[in-house]
Amino acid sequence: MKIVFTSVNKSDIEFYKYSLPESEVIFFQDNIDNINIKEICDANILSVFVFDKLDKNKLSQFNNLKLIITRSAGVDHIDINYCKERGIRVANIPAYSPKSIAEHSLCLLLNLTRKIKLISSKTKDIDFSQNEELIGLDLDQLKIGIIGTGKIGSWMAKICKNLGMEVYAYDIKENLELKTLGIKYINLESLIEISDVISLHVPYSAKTHHLINKEKINKMKDGAIIINTSRGAVLDTNALYNALMNGKLGGAGIDVFEDEDILILNRYEKGIVSDKALKILKLNTLPNVIITPHIAYFTKKAVNNIRNSVVECINIFLKEGKLGKFEVV
Ligand code: NAI
Repeated sequence: MKIVFTSVNKSDIEFYKYSLPESEVIFFQDNIDNINIKEICDANILSVFVFDKLDKNKLSQFNNLKLIITRSAGVDHIDINYCKERGIRVANIPAYSPKSIAEHSLCLLLNLTRKIKLISSKTKDIDFSQNEELIGLDLDQLKIGIIGTGKIGSWMAKICKNLGMEVYAYDIKENLELKTLGIKYINLESLIEISDVISLHVPYSAKTHHLINKEKINKMKDGAIIINTSRGAVLDTNALYNALMNGKLGGAGIDVFEDEDILILNRYEKGIVSDKALKILKLNTLPNVIITPHIAYFTKKAVNNIRNSVVECINIFLKEGKLGKFEVV
């Protein structure tokens, strides 16, 4: 079995080499767009990350591919239907550390409510004044609407509840435990209208594409804050840009955004740009916008869990032909 890893860093390579000693394992630090597919098209197992876009065109060039394992929870970068047609099994790491992503969402929220970006830029300029523009918001005065209460969203809801926020939720499936904690499920329209903060935690799909768009943002409270650690295209970049530039929204904490690979994979430095990526760069200059590079998952615990789960998944697949809890159905 030939195993190919793409989008790995040096410490990933050391770990997987040590942990999969009996297999032929080949590593690429680049993402799949920057690799000559001819070099890897005989792979039997392919381990990828979210920046490896596996569409039908790319997948059709693999002749012997039996398993794709993505080192992520989301699988929207892989054409799952085409994999099914071809009999290529797909695995993900569904719960490597949902708390890590929820904590990053909280981190973005607190940075915005307490205006840390603005305050920090002033103190860097040796301005230690305490004027009115730096006044913050208390969480226990705010209503938060959590959209998507799966593993990450439900933890975010619990943290926010424990911090004294009034927590509302919207999901196609209600989580009974959250209801017993006093978290109220309401429809999307009502959630949008009453929330001071909206935090997105749904997977990306045709159904969640631009779930938050111009119409929805117009219905939000003036000065509301949006947090997005889910997937970029759940939130319409153009609508977000306009609402922040014209002051409709009070702030945004954005870990994921449309065309993020242009900036995260340094394509921007090679002259590749897009209107959406430029808008994100412009938004990043605002004091009430915090942009992070799809890094909500990136903690020591999460990275260790991902690595150990990938090895566990490959081993059970090689020994028993099974994927167990890792199988994407
Ligand atoms: P999950 O599958 O446990 O929860 C997703 C929830 O969204 C479920 O409760 C589901 O019912 C709900 N949902 C699905 N479609 C919906 C719709 N159309 N309307 C309303 N609710 C809907 O997933 P988990 O682990 O909580 O992750 C959520 C997403 O977070 C992932 O799919 C991924 O895109 C993103 N993520 C981002 C990371 C980052 O580093 N920024 C890291 C890990 C995940």
